[in-house]
Amino acid sequence: MLADHEALRLLTSRKPKHALEQPLYTDPGVFDADLRMLWYRDWLLAIPACEIPKTGNFVTLQVGAYPVVIVRGADGQVRAFHNVCRHRGQRLCSVMKGSSPKLVCPYHQWTYELDGRLLYARDMDADFDPAKHGLKPVHCRVAGGIVFISLAEAAPEFDGLGAELERYLAPHMLNDAKVVHSSTIVENGNWKLVIENNRECYHCGGNHPSLCRTFSDKPVITAPNDSGSETEVTRHWERCEAAGLPSQFLIHPTSQWRLARVPLLNNAESYTMDTKRACAKPLGTMPFFDAGSLLFFHYPNSWNHFLGDHAIVFRVLPLTPTTTEVTTKWIVHKDAVEGVDYDIKRLTEVWLATNDEDRRVVEENQAGINSPAYEPGPYSSMHEDGVIQFIDWYAETMTERLAPRTAMAAE
Ligand code: FES
Ligand SMILES: [Fe+2]
Repeated sequence: MLADHEALRLLTSRKPKHALEQPLYTDPGVFDADLRMLWYRDWLLAIPACEIPKTGNFVTLQVGAYPVVIVRGADGQVRAFHNVCRHRGQRLCSVMKGSSPKLVCPYHQWTYELDGRLLYARDMDADFDPAKHGLKPVHCRVAGGIVFISLAEAAPEFDGLGAELERYLAPHMLNDAKVVHSSTIVENGNWKLVIENNRECYHCGGNHPSLCRTFSDKPVITAPNDSGSETEVTRHWERCEAAGLPSQFLIHPTSQWRLARVPLLNNAESYTMDTKRACAKPLGTMPFFDAGSLLFFHYPNSWNHFLGDHAIVFRVLPLTPTTTEVTTKWIVHKDAVEGVDYDIKRLTEVWLATNDEDRRVVEENQAGINSPAYEPGPYSSMHEDGVIQFIDWYAETMTERLAPRTAMAAE
């Protein structure tokens, strides 16, 4: 199990534009450092807010050692709390999602208001102060209909991302939408392999027959940048922007997140086998169905597609050094009717298949990396630019955060 200074040495001595050394994908000490330096500090995409539309609706998730509950209050606010009872620490909500007028601990029935205040604790001593035993809050922000949480003591800046998400997602009106399908799978691979795999389409032609009917594997289209030269993708931006759809490539200076609306192949409308829309009702105020896909990634844990007829939100959570949970949610307009406007199989089949294909490549990638013969290989600048960028973000962020700690420990 590597200590922080050993992980730091691997990060600072890495070969640029190459995959990482084996322990960075396998070692429990590195996994622990990833949790402490990234997962417990950064903003994480948690859920689409429309998943908890009503007072008392809640969703739970586990980030490393932290169980978290996200709940909609009586005032309509979405809040997040540590899902840990302030009595003897029972996990308060044990199901993945539910609805309850109050949060009641199953152990001794301490009862919390949806805003976290402790309302009731039976037969406690005379000096017991309920006001000191409310649920511990977790930082929570909602932007563009997406809920983010941060476990940091002082949360990082959010407003820049928040404002851009509001702007880009406004036409999709995710607050007037609903989650109609959800899938959670566990991939036997390190979380970074899951993100790396998402950040390139070098593997798409050989692995994703159904996705490739609609999603181009040309890097110039699906991994666009702001080169300024006119291409199919810049023409798409012009057409969409003229119709009121924010679409241009936008990336944060640290590369932690990016937004860009890309065209699908041959004017396809959606990720379906026949390339036509999967939902007859447009999502929000989308002016046309062939708006392509608004791509949004946010490190360390999410990538997303927002189309004319539906949206797909992907959330990654690390479980162990070599297992990762991937949750996918399909969203359509809230008034769309199943069997009339959309069919679940048609809506979900391409990405269910794609997720499974990606799970397989990630698991085989991990299996090869586990070999003593593994040696980090070079990335293709043309096809794996997104991977280079993710790995640079990871290594630079980890280095910046580990370096002061290891310097302190050496003193
Ligand atoms: S641990 Fe929750 S009420 Fe006792
Ligand atoms: Fe893939």
